[in-house]
Amino acid sequence: MKPVKVGLLGLGTVGTGVVRIVEGHQEDLQSQVGSPIVIEKVLVQNKSKARNISVSADKLTEDPWEIVNNPDIDVIVEVMGGIETTKTYILEALSRGKHIVTANKDLMALHGPEILAKAHQHGCDVLYEASVAGGIPIIRTLIEGFSSDRITKIMGIVNGTTNYILTKMSQEGADYADVLKEAQALGYAEADPTSDVEGLDAARKMTILSTLGFRANVALEDVDVKGISSVSREDIAYAKRLGYEVKLLGIAERQDDYMSVSVQPTMVKKTHPIASVNGVFNAVYVHGEAVGETMFYGPGAGELPTATSVVADLVAVVKNLKLGVNGKQLGLTYKEKKLKTDEQ
Ligand code: NAP
Ligand code: HSE
Repeated sequence: MKPVKVGLLGLGTVGTGVVRIVEGHQEDLQSQVGSPIVIEKVLVQNKSKARNISVSADKLTEDPWEIVNNPDIDVIVEVMGGIETTKTYILEALSRGKHIVTANKDLMALHGPEILAKAHQHGCDVLYEASVAGGIPIIRTLIEGFSSDRITKIMGIVNGTTNYILTKMSQEGADYADVLKEAQALGYAEADPTSDVEGLDAARKMTILSTLGFRANVALEDVDVKGISSVSREDIAYAKRLGYEVKLLGIAERQDDYMSVSVQPTMVKKTHPIASVNGVFNAVYVHGEAVGETMFYGPGAGELPTATSVVADLVAVVKNLKLGVNGKQLGLTYKEKKLKTDEQ
């Protein structure tokens, strides 16, 4: 049983969770894939930083090429974040035949098609379940679970940080800036939390979901975005008096061949299930022509929920390795999108 060797890029919130799950669930993982899964090397920015997980010093590196160019490493798990530098590492790793698991929605929303094309060219897997809605397996569900249907609407709360902030403002009258600091301390927020509060993180996730759900080339610039930074405690209190909660909703709709995608603070009637999605939890509604309405709910950010999705992707890559079918999934042919305008 030759071990499968993994290079981990990043040992922050998500990377720590990945190490905990790979080590803590090793027996269960092995029973599914038939080989030990070993984290061989871990890239960090600063090896001397105090960490709340112990990883042997010889595994830590500050040199990305020790992982990207390492012939012993089969799979790279990218949980460092960032766009351009990270893309360089991933493209190089793919050209060396390494499979990729990533939680990086910024990267996949902007450069997903290029990365997936490179993966296809080199017979590699690129899986990115953790990039949307943390612990909810929504990407796999859209690709596989709804392959038989025609999805007409995807709507939901896809950012944990803003939902945490709005919930605390609504339930406790908490101050926006204080709760944002809490969300950062809990590891929910992005390195630059502006992307959470201004709706960009949710827009990137809606780009990914609508591309997969509508099987169309949706781009980030197609999404109308408004965040929550201008939502005041008074707005939330007023909405509550009228029987509503304020939620940052991503809404992607398709009518015939036309689609629209937006992210905006929205007044949701308290009787609607989405109004009761609180804290870091996310919920995604998917409406299909045949299935009707479905809903998926779970933690949208945080160490272990997110790492659950990352490690599930890792298991899928290793199963493909065993079967010799990496990179052999059918290439999806997406339609050119047609955006809905005010005249339609
Ligand atoms: P994080 O806590 O900030 O951790 C980032 C890690 O990557 C750190 O260990 C850091 O090293 C390392 N790193 C960053 N840039 C680097 C560079 N240029 N070279 C070498 N090492 C570098 O971030 P995170 O919250 O775990 O998020 C990681 C990724 O997962 C992001 O793409 C994020 O959007 C995504 N994600 C996060 C969550 C969540 O709940 N946090 C959920 C879903 C997806 P040091 O430790 O030495 O600083
Ligand atoms: N910052 C993101 C959020 C992390 O709060 O939802 C999970 O993608």
